Amino acid sequence: MDRNICLIGYMGSGKTTVGRMLAERLDMDFEDTDELIVKNEGRSIPDIFRDEGEAYFRRIETDLMKKIASDGELTGTVLSTGGGLPVDKDNRPLLKEVGTVVYLKAKPECLNARVGNDLNRPLLASEDRLLKIRDMLAFRGPIYEECADIIIDTDELDAGETVDKIIMSVNKSKSS
Ligand code: S3P
Repeated sequence: MDRNICLIGYMGSGKTTVGRMLAERLDMDFEDTDELIVKNEGRSIPDIFRDEGEAYFRRIETDLMKKIASDGELTGTVLSTGGGLPVDKDNRPLLKEVGTVVYLKAKPECLNARVGNDLNRPLLASEDRLLKIRDMLAFRGPIYEECADIIIDTDELDAGETVDKIIMSVNKSKSS
């Protein structure tokens, strides 16, 4: 597939796992905005949040999206994006410019279970993580939906089934 696919969704929605599998199945490249940021900055996401704060992270996230959209070098790529990326209004048209936007949707309980014990997400360091996810998703859910060309309900799906569904939906949207 030559058109890029951008995966969006909340932390734990499976963007990276599904993205890698999808890229392999479609013989596409794979990139991840968080991984690109970590590489460019030479430090982990928790370190960036701790040392510079969230506003700085958001700024470099938007700068990265602007660069990806403007240099047009990304082709035939599945791009997994950080869960907060579509929250910045400026990033939404950029995502659409870069590729077909696929939202991996899931319920808070499911996201909470999928995040498991991963300590790599500073925004989820909370006493009551499920409540935090519910609150954030109440705000972000409509944004993800507005931004998406395709929405995949992933609650009942494993990564492989999600990949199948994305491929079916992308093909369907191309032929319609
Ligand atoms: C964030 C999601 C993370 C990472 C950062 C902030 C968010 O990416 O960009 O910790 O605001 O939802 P993942 O969605 O890949 O975990």
